[in-house]
Amino acid sequence: MNLDQQILTALHAAAAVGVSGAELSQRLNVSRAAIWARIEDLRALGYEIDASPHRGYRLCGVPDLLHADDLLSRLGPTRVIGRDIRVFQETSSTNDVVDKLARDGVPEGVVVFAESQTRGRGRLGRKWLSPAGRGLWFSVLLRPNLRPQAATQMTIATALAVARAIQQQTGLLPGIKWPNDILLQGRKTAGILTELSAELDHIKYLVLGIGVDVNLAAHEFPADLRKLATSLRIEAGRTLNRADLAIAILRALDDDYARITSGQFEAVANEWAERCTTLGQPVTIHIGDRRLHGRAEALDEDGALLLRTEHGRLERVIGGDVTMEK
Ligand code: BTN
Repeated sequence: MNLDQQILTALHAAAAVGVSGAELSQRLNVSRAAIWARIEDLRALGYEIDASPHRGYRLCGVPDLLHADDLLSRLGPTRVIGRDIRVFQETSSTNDVVDKLARDGVPEGVVVFAESQTRGRGRLGRKWLSPAGRGLWFSVLLRPNLRPQAATQMTIATALAVARAIQQQTGLLPGIKWPNDILLQGRKTAGILTELSAELDHIKYLVLGIGVDVNLAAHEFPADLRKLATSLRIEAGRTLNRADLAIAILRALDDDYARITSGQFEAVANEWAERCTTLGQPVTIHIGDRRLHGRAEALDEDGALLLRTEHGRLERVIGGDVTMEK
């Protein structure tokens, strides 16, 4: 941990009680002047840190920004995800940044956030709107010991983790549309883009790109998206702290990644199915120029969707765009 992480960890732990400069300096083995300098820098970033002779330093308010040291200090130890966190003010796409890190040999678990993306992308070649400070736009590097066909297991696990974290932070009950759309009141509020580099029989690495529309106001969505998309702020009726949500998602994802890598996909899939709005429903799936009609029956052991077509055949679907039939 660097000094900022240690100071932030101590401030968060001391909460309303506060911690004195002398105690911090002794615990962290640096001078009180060095502590003071770091506190001043944190204040300049927007951290409200009260200093009084009686109570020492107290953290009274945190800014609405993503700060790697703060995220790391609050996340604490995880098994894999979030061992290393990096934050960019702006990047083209966090999936590209993580892809480059993967090719450079960085270990799994690194998470890259961007306050804004200039070329955020969604599934099926779509653009992903990523305005500054309004959402969570981030990617995670994983190196799971899975066959490429089982990569969908990770998309399913990620959708479940994001849905659980949103519920925990907002009290809202998100639904999941196969494979990876998180919906509130039938409108999309988060999506996942899984990209992988693989050989025939094994995954070399996998990049999970996660986008959550957190604090966008209705007018910030382009007109053609307003009926289809929503934000947590619109649905919850209040602004959310993005760092709190980011931490909740990383913890949930760390738990579900552990379940996937220890062969517990079935338990994950059952929880996913409880939240899924697609299963049991008549759907149309567009795969390129193909259009399949049928009933979404279940997930198979790789996370693919089993569709009972209108002709009674069972089709295994691994990609495409699902539309629910009215
Ligand atoms: C989708 O539902 O189509 C997937 C959207 C994924 C968006 C995220 S935002 C962070 C990461 N970087 C990207 O360019 N895309 C993903």
